[in-house]
Amino acid sequence: MSRFEWAKAEVQRHPRTWLVTGAAGFIGSNLVEMLLGLGQDVVGLDNFATGHQRNLDEVVEQVGPGAERFRFVHGDIRRLDTCRAACEGVDYVLHQAALGSVPRSVADPIATNATNVEGFLNMLVAARDTGVKRFVYAASSSTYGDEPTLPKVEERIGRPLSPYAVSKYVNELYAGVFQRTYGVESIGLRYFNVFGPRQDPEGAYAAVIPRWVSALLSGLPVEINGDGETSRDFTYVENVLQANLLAATTRVVAATDQVYNVACGERTTLNELFRLIRDGLAEQHRELHDVAPVYRDFRMADVRHSQADIQKIRAQLGYEPSHAVAAGMKEALGWYESSLIAGRG
Ligand SMILES: NC(=O)c1ccc[n+]([C@@H]2O[C@H](COP(=O)([O-])OP(=O)(O)OC[C@H]3O[C@@H](n4cnc5c(N)ncnc54)[C@H](O)[C@@H]3O)[C@@H](O)[C@H]2O)c1
Repeated sequence: MSRFEWAKAEVQRHPRTWLVTGAAGFIGSNLVEMLLGLGQDVVGLDNFATGHQRNLDEVVEQVGPGAERFRFVHGDIRRLDTCRAACEGVDYVLHQAALGSVPRSVADPIATNATNVEGFLNMLVAARDTGVKRFVYAASSSTYGDEPTLPKVEERIGRPLSPYAVSKYVNELYAGVFQRTYGVESIGLRYFNVFGPRQDPEGAYAAVIPRWVSALLSGLPVEINGDGETSRDFTYVENVLQANLLAATTRVVAATDQVYNVACGERTTLNELFRLIRDGLAEQHRELHDVAPVYRDFRMADVRHSQADIQKIRAQLGYEPSHAVAAGMKEALGWYESSLIAGRG
């Protein structure tokens, strides 16, 4: 039995109360769905800055009767009283709420800081004051900044390349200090380019995979920033769910006050990614077979290559990615096809 299966069985035997912040977002809604499916009591907190009610509706539909154990708080982590109320009676916090996107942070660093740094600090204070057992939070691969070594190992970080990267690094510093000063156990998960169902294809700051899928299905051009040889360790969301559950439930105290890479440990260039998406969609939409991307300028503050070393999370939390990029993409494309086409219907 994998460590993930074991952890799932364990929480099913001893149900707990979980708070997922950013519950209406991409990763948050997937976490809520997993936890409700495991018979847990779940509180969700979100202000719909970038999340959607439709994500919550889909979760409720997917989990059926288990959804009775879900309580949603429409609120903002920039308010300490909201964070305190949401943390009341909670065992584990999975903190996902943040303003994502490097370019968004370059355009508006104050907004990014208010949610990602001040909001994060509010959540830590609230977790401390209400006696939460463990605080697991979304950190980011952007923290590696200009450190050139590949693959990325947790201890070697460079200078941040964007306000977003600063905000995510500050999260790690604060979480560490809260464990050492106030005893709030924490684990940071440095996600590497996560993708999967419910990742938003709309808006100026949409992530690359949903943006391209949406463009291809709409007959619009796919634009690649730079020469397409930029690479990333694209990570299917199921792997992220696993990392969160393992982090929340590990009994090894030495595994806390730590950050871990969460990825597949593979490297895919944007050109390869484009072909994977196009060829996957072309199985149903033959007209897409010969579509080519359009290349434009490199984007400011982008890291050229990224690939994770996942040895630390394997060794300390028993993580083993269940979905490589291609397998995850198959599932994600199936979801996008049905949801985007249904959305237009
Ligand atoms: N998706 C990725 O590739 C990736 C990579 C690294 C780190 N992360 C981190 O993972 C977390 C989840 O990202 P996601 O991709 O699901 O993004 P998302 O935008 O889909 O989800 C973020 C959620 O947080 C909510 N939110 C924003 N500001 C808030 C506030 N002030 N109060 C309450 N809720 C607020 C949004 O409405 C949204 O539902 C974020 O912390 C992000 O920085 C994501």
